[in-house]
Amino acid sequence: MSDEEPLSIPTVDLAELVHHDRAVRQRAAASLREAFGTYGLVYVLNHGVDFTLRDRLFQRFVDFTERPDAEKQPFNRGDIWFQRGWTPPNTERAVAAGGQPDFKECWFAAPVPTSPDLQVEYPQIFADNVWPEDGAEFREDYLTLGRQLHEAGLSLLHGVAMSLDLPERTFERKVEGGAHVFRLLRYLALGQDQVGSGVVWGEEHTDFNLLTLLPGGQFFDPESAPCDRPDDASGLYLRTRPSKAHPRGQLIQGKAPPGCIVAQVGQQLEILTGGELLATPHVITAPKTPGYTRMSGAHFIHLHAHEMVFPLERLRTPENIAAYAPPVLAGTYAIKTLVDIGLAPPEALSKLGYRHYGRLADIHAAERGAKEDPGA
Ligand SMILES: [Fe+2]
Repeated sequence: MSDEEPLSIPTVDLAELVHHDRAVRQRAAASLREAFGTYGLVYVLNHGVDFTLRDRLFQRFVDFTERPDAEKQPFNRGDIWFQRGWTPPNTERAVAAGGQPDFKECWFAAPVPTSPDLQVEYPQIFADNVWPEDGAEFREDYLTLGRQLHEAGLSLLHGVAMSLDLPERTFERKVEGGAHVFRLLRYLALGQDQVGSGVVWGEEHTDFNLLTLLPGGQFFDPESAPCDRPDDASGLYLRTRPSKAHPRGQLIQGKAPPGCIVAQVGQQLEILTGGELLATPHVITAPKTPGYTRMSGAHFIHLHAHEMVFPLERLRTPENIAAYAPPVLAGTYAIKTLVDIGLAPPEALSKLGYRHYGRLADIHAAERGAKEDPGA
């Protein structure tokens, strides 16, 4: 991990993005652009996210993951591509991971209502939430924290539009009704034989959605009590934009200053801005000591499934058109990515084009039958 020059990642105060004084708003928007354009991430103050609630929810999920496997299995929903409920360990894998799956278990739920129309079109991605029978408090805390992160994300998107001289509600409009999903993740304890064996908690990747909100992480010791990180190399690391001085970017610890949350750019926002903002590669490294686990959460804001994933007209250049072509719908983009990362089956791709060839084949078969048996 690089620890050369200290990086000055901007902190943006959400209250300043909506300040009555235009100069304050513009200054905050400029910081946001610097943060997302150079580092791919920003620290956020006045975010409205309740950390007491977050810690309580983390503990609730730790308790859930420690239940017997048989109690968790009903929520293991491969049929809906794990987009709701429980994702078992070793299911998801990053595209760059060479087949090595992530060593984590997760929960997925949508914290804001989604459109019934989209549920018909994308039944897996817009599936109804599922909850354990005794999970009323888990559900309540989950949805509340998810909504807080969502609101913070919408404010940031407002600021992004301002910072790029776009109509201020450009992104808020484009995400309305999208497949926003809040995820809890518990990175699992390594056994003595796994330490240093190449097991990754989360292989380096960029998120495929528009904007990701990270409320912070928490390590747990082998007795499942909250603790500091067990060594100075484990946890979340984010890679900054490559520069002349750092052609591969710099890996920096994804720990926000006290009181802040982190927001990071996803692939959709990179593409819409023609690469002005860059999707943030990030990796979650496992500790060098067995028995430790880590809890974290991530709220993913998505474009509406019918929005085009392509540079916005005002930001198009011949170079970025070529780089991000062909244009594709956000819903299609999601299906392709979910197949790539092992959550959806490859057959899902066959639905992305004409697939009713069977109809013609049936007619031809019937015609052949009629010829062979003219009396039929
Ligand atoms: Fe991620």
